[in-house]
Amino acid sequence: MHREDFLMFENNPDLIYLDNGATTFKPKEVVDKIVDYYTKYTANAHRGDYDISQEVDMEYESTREVVKDFIGAKSSKEIIFTKGTTESMNIIVSSFMKNYLQKGDEVLITKAEHASNVLPWFELEKEIGIVVKFIPLTDTYKVTLENIKKVVTSKTKVISLAAITNVIGDIRPIKEITKYAHENNILVVVDGAQSVPHTKTDVKDTDIDFLAFSAHKMLGPTGVGVLYAKEKYLEVMKPFTYGGGMNSRFESTKELEYKDIPLRLEAGTQNIAGVLGLKAAILYLEKVGMDNIHEHELILRDYLIKRLQEIPNITVYNVESESGIVIFNIDDIFAEDTSRYLNHYKICIRAGNHCTKIIKDEIKVKNTCRISLYFYNTKEEIDKLIEVLKDNKKIYDIIL
Ligand code: ALA
Repeated sequence: MHREDFLMFENNPDLIYLDNGATTFKPKEVVDKIVDYYTKYTANAHRGDYDISQEVDMEYESTREVVKDFIGAKSSKEIIFTKGTTESMNIIVSSFMKNYLQKGDEVLITKAEHASNVLPWFELEKEIGIVVKFIPLTDTYKVTLENIKKVVTSKTKVISLAAITNVIGDIRPIKEITKYAHENNILVVVDGAQSVPHTKTDVKDTDIDFLAFSAHKMLGPTGVGVLYAKEKYLEVMKPFTYGGGMNSRFESTKELEYKDIPLRLEAGTQNIAGVLGLKAAILYLEKVGMDNIHEHELILRDYLIKRLQEIPNITVYNVESESGIVIFNIDDIFAEDTSRYLNHYKICIRAGNHCTKIIKDEIKVKNTCRISLYFYNTKEEIDKLIEVLKDNKKIYDIIL
């Protein structure tokens, strides 16, 4: 679908790009938006009284509205621009949870989480003595409410999960988890890096407390992302950077006053071009339709898994993936060698542990090859991949 909108396809006619979990291609509308900002109305935001600066203010703040509507937030005050999912997750932990949690409080995650939903919690455990616990996964590496209940205690204060995981590709029952969590006075943090670009997100309906996601995995530029939180939590969140743009006054007497949210949490000149590019990306995604995107990916995923299973010496580890993420290995071949073999045919996949270094305890294999699909991928691309994988004995001549 819509391949004509992406210059990467025009400029690389032979390339087969199946690494969309890492980053996606950008449609012309996104590139044009960024070029327009740098060539037609370059100015800082929230600082100038002249026309082009006010145009930037308008574009920047209207992006907040667009993001708000896209994820179903109540107010644009709940949208904070960050560098990406990783920064958003770190801010949630270090600027809110560090003050909210106390020694002995328990935080539940899983072994299928990305590093950005593990390491900030491990650090907080070292710093203030919270206890990070793992929710047991099912035989197919999924999270169920039943398994969550097995590890919840009176000390559980937070459940922090990806809505779709970046290796297993399962969709977590976030709404069900949130309902149970709130009945038990537990906050829910959602890593939306792999879900927001691929499925409809509705923070009001799911009632999640915090959400983090990145622009570059949803057709937008790198270096920009979003931190969503319910207004009542952002109101008490400590600024994580101090400086221009976030204060309304400060005196030599050291009296000071900060602005209201969201600007209080956006010190310094922001990634303006990135924010504007994110707006173009969201408007483009809305045009394609999030339900169409998810549906197309599921059709491709079914086809991909069926075709991979035709190859006798290939193991697929997540046949029950619920998204466009599929992981596999060729028997007795290192994942990185398979990836380099595919690269020989201009096929891009990701190999390794995918920044999810403890999932190995569950799937019993350290490194895998990951295919991550998007709406612009096609069955023909999968056919080409399968043709090359079927011929995998050639790997010994080409790579090994
Ligand atoms: N987190 C990204 C991935 O899963 C980079 O590939």
